[in-house]
Amino acid sequence: MEVAASAGGGGGAKTPDEVIAKHCNACHGTGLLGSPKIGDAADWGKRAKEQGGLDGLLAKAITGINSMPPKGTCADCSDPELKGAIEKMSGLK
Ligand code: HEC
Repeated sequence: MEVAASAGGGGGAKTPDEVIAKHCNACHGTGLLGSPKIGDAADWGKRAKEQGGLDGLLAKAITGINSMPPKGTCADCSDPELKGAIEKMSGLK
């Protein structure tokens, strides 16, 4: 499902697609450095279980873990923006 990149409308919030395309996809698109691949429900599900759900994953994404950089390199992403990207990549709610 591709969404055309638009030069952000009003509001200023980044959509999950924008965050993923700009930041997360560089690693998570291919599973680079052992990252859970976008859409790999089994890998994401296992991680969600270990971290206690989506909010646990969000906490790890904010601080970083091993080769996963803090905020996945999106330094100006808000928590909800990061969470939206994680939801979309993992398929978790
Ligand atoms: C430089 C490569 C890289 C980028 C860019 C990146 N990640 Fe990751 N990410 C990783 C790697 C590697 C792991 C696996 C870390 C591990 O378990 O050792 C990971 C794991 C994760 C996890 C699971 C953490 C856990 O506890 O298992 C989440 C959530 C995550 N990334 C979110 C994101 C988001 C959101 C973005 C974009 C804003 C992003 N990542 C961008 C490399 C990256």
